[in-house]
Amino acid sequence: MTENSTAKKKTALVTGANKGIGYEIAAGLARLGFRVGVGARDTGRRDDAVQKLRAEGLDVFGVPLDVTDDASVAAAAAQLEEQGGLDVLVNNAAITGGVPQEPSKVSADQVLRVVDTNVVGVIRVTNAMLPMLRRAGSPRIVNVSSTVGSLTLQTAQAEAVGPISGAYSPTKSYLNAVTVQYAKELAGAGILVNAGCPGYVATDLNGHRGTRTPEQGAAVFLHLATLPDGGPNGTFRDEAGTQPW
Ligand SMILES: NC(=O)c1ccc[n+]([C@@H]2O[C@H](COP(=O)([O-])OP(=O)(O)OC[C@H]3O[C@@H](n4cnc5c(N)ncnc54)[C@H](OP(=O)(O)O)[C@@H]3O)[C@@H](O)[C@H]2O)c1
Repeated sequence: MTENSTAKKKTALVTGANKGIGYEIAAGLARLGFRVGVGARDTGRRDDAVQKLRAEGLDVFGVPLDVTDDASVAAAAAQLEEQGGLDVLVNNAAITGGVPQEPSKVSADQVLRVVDTNVVGVIRVTNAMLPMLRRAGSPRIVNVSSTVGSLTLQTAQAEAVGPISGAYSPTKSYLNAVTVQYAKELAGAGILVNAGCPGYVATDLNGHRGTRTPEQGAAVFLHLATLPDGGPNGTFRDEAGTQPW
């Protein structure tokens, strides 16, 4: 590959990409020809992920990134700016906040921690990356949400969508709401902003009880990251198609 064609490659950033679904989104985007920033807060796990992806011949680089830390997010944006900008942002990093999760039992600190990572973290990272995305040719913002955040599914289905949750699930509802607002604000700028659900995936997040592989979970986000210009904006989907908010 010539130096010129390398310079024209699109760049993607995936937050929380050292393991689980984020790792597979990073791998999938790199296999599609993106240069991928592996965003991760833990140095050792980030280096391991980068090394493993490079061993596959993929064009990836590590981006130190704690989505709850303004300075870390600013440094990540500066790094990407220095390396030529950003075309695709995948907001994947999240935590559950642990147990208990029942609304009557969660503590204020627990809820604030989950909101700070799963919602404010997305806003913090998105706003820091937006100047670069606004300059990109076909910019995309992909938010990794969950059907547990769909109030329609939570209330319409006889069987519960996920366990009762006073911290994690509401942050995904909030994230869905934020996705809609970004989509409305950025529609004129040609930036497509969409959210997706990976399904129930076996990762550390759920003690590997999920029934799908991280690679299967990543597929919907690869789709949203590579939507054509004029494609859907402000939508929520899983592998079965569009889902209600
Ligand atoms: N697994 C499922 O069934 C499922 C279903 C629906 C939606 N999701 C969503 O899928 C996404 C990925 O989850 P996963 O299942 O792959 O879980 P995971 O294996 O626990 O991965 C979560 C990732 O987020 C990172 N992270 C957490 N807090 C962070 C912070 N403050 N700054 C930067 N990175 C941070 C973690 O990094 P560390 O290694 O440093 O902790 C890790 O890389 C999440 O948004 C989750 O809500 C998962």
